[in-house]
Amino acid sequence: MTLTAYTGKILPIWAAELVMRGRLVAGNWKSNGDLASNQRLLEDVRAAARDLRGVECAVCVPYPYLFQSQQILAGAAVVWGGQDVSQFGSGAFTGAVTAAMLLEFGCRYVIVGHSERRSIFGESDAVVAAKFDVAIKAGLTPILCVGETLREREEGVTETVVGRQLDAVIGKTGVAALVKAVIAYEPVWAIGTGRTAMPEQAQAVHAYVRSAVAAHDAVVADGLRILYGGSVKAANAAQLFTMRDIDGGLIGGASLVADEFMAICRAAGRGQ
Ligand code: 13P
Repeated sequence: MTLTAYTGKILPIWAAELVMRGRLVAGNWKSNGDLASNQRLLEDVRAAARDLRGVECAVCVPYPYLFQSQQILAGAAVVWGGQDVSQFGSGAFTGAVTAAMLLEFGCRYVIVGHSERRSIFGESDAVVAAKFDVAIKAGLTPILCVGETLREREEGVTETVVGRQLDAVIGKTGVAALVKAVIAYEPVWAIGTGRTAMPEQAQAVHAYVRSAVAAHDAVVADGLRILYGGSVKAANAAQLFTMRDIDGGLIGGASLVADEFMAICRAAGRGQ
């Protein structure tokens, strides 16, 4: 397929690089781990990542384990990141961890707006957008999570909800910031439930996200990596990664088991 056929318009040469979307599989450990089990997991992931092709592999760990991750993963084919970031800089913000701190521990990525942050910790679209903006400005790559609840899906408002979450960020930062970001579509009803979206169901929302971004800027949309998250396992990953607009995965439970996580990474690499 030519560049022109793919995008429907002639693109400048520099845009070709954007169109070749890289694959990414990121683990989200959530509030799990301890020093001893992390050590085994990180060493196993580091070893297996040597053979990965066509996919970038990342782990997003709890803050206290960033130092350990940095020690074990430095120089390996695995990058790491945080699961949240403060929307503020340094100062009197008890409990908050700044983007500068994440950078000091070598983070490349940071998850922003995970549904658990939105629903359990009450983060609004505006707070998520502020965190996204801070991450971009600091030079971290935010993985912006969007997704609907089961009720919203049943009410037929999935696109409205995802569109609103996306617009809050684009409204704050401008669409160009998405060049330096990743989106993760995570239907809330599929997170930790064992209930994965059917590949076609996920693809439909991924295509919607891409088209919503394309309405602002087609080139940015073509280059945007959109991950799927929600009960992804080694057994269902390959099928999800055959979908045209699924560029990798954000993996919760399965990222805590090295063999399972690396099998998902390999599946994403093969789908490239
Ligand atoms: P599970 O893979 O455990 O369903 O979690 C998905 C998720 O929330 C990743 O951010």
